[in-house]
Amino acid sequence: MGQTASTTAVCSRIQSSAGACGDNNHGNNSPVAANRMQGYPLFKSNTSNNNNSNPHKMSLELKIASLEEELISKNRELAALRESISQKPGFAKLEGDVCIRSTRKQSAAVLVQSYEPLTVNSRRRKIEDYCRDLVINNDHISRMEQRLRESIEKGLDKKTHDMASVKCFPTYVRELPSGHECGKFLALDLGGTNFRVVLIEIGENEKFEMDNEVYAISQDLMNGSGDDLFDHIASCLANFAKARKIDKEVLPLGFTFSFPCKQKGLAVGELISWTKGFSCKGVEGEDVVTLLKNAINKRGDIHVDVAAILNDTTGCLMSCAWKNHNCRIGLIIGTGTNACYLEDLEKVGLWDGDINNPKHVIVNTEWGAFGDHGELDFIVTKWDHRVDEGSINPGKQIFEKMISGMYMGEVVRQVLVDLVDEDLIFAKQPLENLRTRGRFYTKYVSEIESDQVGDYTQCREALKDLGMTNVTDEDCSALRHVCECVSRRAGFMVSAGITALLKKMDYKDVVVAIDGSVFRFHPHFENIMRSRIRQLMGTEYKFDLMLSTDGSGRGAALVAAVLMGECAI
Ligand code: BGC
Repeated sequence: MGQTASTTAVCSRIQSSAGACGDNNHGNNSPVAANRMQGYPLFKSNTSNNNNSNPHKMSLELKIASLEEELISKNRELAALRESISQKPGFAKLEGDVCIRSTRKQSAAVLVQSYEPLTVNSRRRKIEDYCRDLVINNDHISRMEQRLRESIEKGLDKKTHDMASVKCFPTYVRELPSGHECGKFLALDLGGTNFRVVLIEIGENEKFEMDNEVYAISQDLMNGSGDDLFDHIASCLANFAKARKIDKEVLPLGFTFSFPCKQKGLAVGELISWTKGFSCKGVEGEDVVTLLKNAINKRGDIHVDVAAILNDTTGCLMSCAWKNHNCRIGLIIGTGTNACYLEDLEKVGLWDGDINNPKHVIVNTEWGAFGDHGELDFIVTKWDHRVDEGSINPGKQIFEKMISGMYMGEVVRQVLVDLVDEDLIFAKQPLENLRTRGRFYTKYVSEIESDQVGDYTQCREALKDLGMTNVTDEDCSALRHVCECVSRRAGFMVSAGITALLKKMDYKDVVVAIDGSVFRFHPHFENIMRSRIRQLMGTEYKFDLMLSTDGSGRGAALVAAVLMGECAI
């Protein structure tokens, strides 16, 4: 490293502290600057004339001289470090959330890392400032958690239920599986853009055989008439049963219907309102089991016994509880988000059934609607407002719209469009796709955040899909930053929700069953959740997160199976 590098560093350091460098670098019109440039301590020559007369002043001047010397040497050190850093990839690893990954038998610390460019130019700084509203801190999280607990209490109480945003519907599912269930069951699973029919056989030694078929639900069906939707479901079921030659059998069926339903029994569920882009007419306010049975009976070619209607969160919880008896919460973070939990009957003011054993019931919180009464206004951003305004159900499902897969990509897109309008990103790129609502898919967020630090392979693939090529590293890094802000916020919000439930239940050791595309495919979601919940709950409480496999199919069969009682095996 030559002389020039060190003098530049000295200059820039002095400039930042005293604002006195500038053109002096070359002009040398100040003796002080000249001294600095040569690496000499200030005052060395011109203070010697008069310091004899004042010993106190002399000692101060000597001190100043020695500090100046130290400053120059530190600046040289700094310049050397800068130079060596410039040879390395332009990122520094920052400490993020420390996450204790605890299995039943052992625990290990996992570091969730965050990365930030070392050279933060003014454009990057502006982008980070711009995104600041998406950053939620511990204070926000605990306020959210407290408010959610209050909303849950309101939902459970008969007197306040109608005014509550979080409805907390009792599901009438009270028995968790023992692991000794058996039999042959059908399950229907409707909750997103696909519909599934599943045939399940449960037997001895954890036998769980499944055969299923997926059928698409077109946009027309999602937004058409309820009759068309249920006719389609019945027709898929009939085709499935005939193909497997079970059309003459009357099998118990569990119907996983993943929308907010007020249940009046195990097999009675009135749809409160559609979510996740559905808006079929003539279904809200109706019992969906009756609509399903009518559609099946109309055909006359198959016969089923609809044993239960359930939410996907209940299915998720049942499916994990079959294996792990500490499982007491079911959570979905997919197209939508929601959680259910096992509550003591005495705490469910809405409960109108018997109070015999077991004295608990699964409560479907429908927490996606949290915030619909303004509870989240303190963190809702202008981008969330725009996502909400452009949705099929404005003003509803606010918590869901800040978290789930149906909306996450759109929140990112809204931020990016603003950054483009401020000339902070994607200069000279074609922007037609980016300016199209819904065109920035949530899967891009997972892909972009899956790249290794400083590598933008998947990021560039996503951008290519949006019609952008030759995007600079700086823009890719900014894009990743926006994705991280949005997905971390979602992770923190879900953690606040789970903490609210854990505190409400007050069990010391709870397993949370989880499913959904965001949880499955986002590379950091699980770690973010583990670390944040641990931080909020403290070490006194143990919890574990358990991935649920196909809760909507298996869970539906298990609810039906539990009703039939244990088999004699
Ligand atoms: C629905 C819930 C469902 C969740 C996850 C939400 O939109 O209201 O009933 O559990 O999505 O699928």
